[in-house]
Amino acid sequence: MDLKRISFDLMVYESAQELEQQDQKLLNVAVKARKRAYSPYSKFNVGAAILLENGEIFSGNNQENASYPSGLCAERVAIFYASAKYPGITIKAIAISATSENYVVNKPAAPCGNCRQSISEYEIKQNAPISIVMSGETGQILKCSSISDILPLAFNNSFLG
Ligand code: THU
Repeated sequence: MDLKRISFDLMVYESAQELEQQDQKLLNVAVKARKRAYSPYSKFNVGAAILLENGEIFSGNNQENASYPSGLCAERVAIFYASAKYPGITIKAIAISATSENYVVNKPAAPCGNCRQSISEYEIKQNAPISIVMSGETGQILKCSSISDILPLAFNNSFLG
């Protein structure tokens, strides 16, 4: 048996001011998008902002539904929106911001498994990393340089033959 260790560098920031200018700007767009979330059931509001290689930023927020599984996360709303408008364009970065109407989200919200899989699809397709900035309402902010960092051993099209 061989033991293989998978590790990655997670950047930890104490506040948004510590982020690079471009990430700060992207996060601000995610914060604004979060405020337009449609989340009457969970009261958990998420905003996501996507930076494209042409400099354009697309944003989205979670869209819930009385039939719960029919809702969609902010990250996928944003990335599908961007890809629908510019198919084939390179996605550089995503910033995520989350709050709750019930409590203070004092730690960074990381994308759910389904969103990681969706982001991974585009990263593999474009063969260039998509960085992810993750934040709550207060507390630390996390950043990883690639979705593959937080989705190791991802399922991809190579399995489909
Ligand atoms: N949600 C997101 O928008 N992104 C995530 O990565 C995790 C969860 C949304 C889905 C649902 O509307 C609410 O947060 C509670 O799960």
